[in-house]
Amino acid sequence: MKVLAILYRGAKAATAEPRLLGTVENQLGLRPWLNSLGHELVVSDDKEGPNSDFQKHIEDAEVLITTPFHPGYLTADLMEKAKNLKICITAGVGSDHIDLNAAVKKNVEVLEVSGSNVTSVAEHVVMSILLLVRNFVPAHEMIERGDWQVSDIARNAFDLENKVIGTIGAGRIGYRVLQRLVPFDPKELIYYDYAPLPDAVAKSVNARRVEDLKEFVSQCDVVTVNCPLHEGTHGLVNADLLSHFKKGSWLVNTARGAICDKDAVAQALKSGHLNGYAGDVWNVQPAPKDHIWRTVKNTLGGGNGMVPHYSGTTLDAQARYAQGTRSILENYLAGKPQDPQNIIVGQGKYASKACECLLLLLSSLTTDPVLQMANVKAVRLHSPIL
Ligand SMILES: NC(=O)c1ccc[n+]([C@@H]2O[C@H](COP(=O)([O-])OP(=O)(O)OC[C@H]3O[C@@H](n4cnc5c(N)ncnc54)[C@H](O)[C@@H]3O)[C@@H](O)[C@H]2O)c1
Repeated sequence: MKVLAILYRGAKAATAEPRLLGTVENQLGLRPWLNSLGHELVVSDDKEGPNSDFQKHIEDAEVLITTPFHPGYLTADLMEKAKNLKICITAGVGSDHIDLNAAVKKNVEVLEVSGSNVTSVAEHVVMSILLLVRNFVPAHEMIERGDWQVSDIARNAFDLENKVIGTIGAGRIGYRVLQRLVPFDPKELIYYDYAPLPDAVAKSVNARRVEDLKEFVSQCDVVTVNCPLHEGTHGLVNADLLSHFKKGSWLVNTARGAICDKDAVAQALKSGHLNGYAGDVWNVQPAPKDHIWRTVKNTLGGGNGMVPHYSGTTLDAQARYAQGTRSILENYLAGKPQDPQNIIVGQGKYASKACECLLLLLSSLTTDPVLQMANVKAVRLHSPIL
């Protein structure tokens, strides 16, 4: 069996730090195990163009392992060429780099390691909210420059306390973000999601659901994006939606770059309509050197908290998604059923993840079987099919 893995190059860091498992060099720790079973493992970061390793080896690979951090884009055309392909495994969370409709059509399974990095991302979201609201980056840059002018920083620094913070998407990550924000005493936590949180879950974080997206953003001082990228969310945060944001609000996106319109966000920041934009996801990865999100600033020369895509690839997260990738492969090789929460596309059909997630959250919050059943029904009725 040929296994093709498209991972990011770790260079010197990966040699010095073997826990950088998600790299070309450290190969998710899979090589000794797969080779001992007689399987072929091809690992590369070369993923663009017809002569890339990705496009050459996809033709006869049975298993494709990719990662959202350095996405090998498996288009419908490439899927056509992948004659042997049976299963795509995302080492991480978010399989929007795979054409899921084509996978359904070609009967290729798509799995990801659900939950493996959701805490890592939620922590990054909270950090990004704080660094924008408190005007941290310009303050640090001032110190590095050797300057000291407190008023230049303080004129745009606020407390998070008493702000309205909202998440678009209240699944595994969105919910964890809300949980972590409770101790900051926000004025209110709100969410927009077509799957309502079960009552017990919403109550545990005191979150109110707003059903209309424009209405939702108009109430927020801070908006954080935590929904998947799919046909319904591509370009969701565009010029029209941004015009409904509060003037001077902050936007954090660690979900996927293409959910936010690149130029509309840059324009909103430049004009002062947005006070800050932060996140780690880009519409193309790696982001080109001249990508406007690298350098765009608000009217006071700050408000940019962009970093490379790393929030979900902390060393802790890498250990979890490497282990999860191996478990999925073990199940595949043994013909065992996969953990339902990891299935994005089963054999020829879509599966729902949000449903499983909410069921898990719910069962951790209540032992009342009646409440559980009532909520389970509500969740099942409203859970999305991605
Ligand atoms: N930056 C990173 O390193 C990183 C790491 C992990 C995940 N992610 C991204 O975060 C996303 C969310 O991850 P998760 O584990 O919380 O997923 P999840 O499936 O647990 O939750 C997603 C939630 O979004 C909701 N949703 C879907 N479409 C929506 C829409 N149109 N409007 C509002 N809500 C919508 C779903 O109902 C669900 O509740 C992933 O799909 C991935 O793209 C990024």
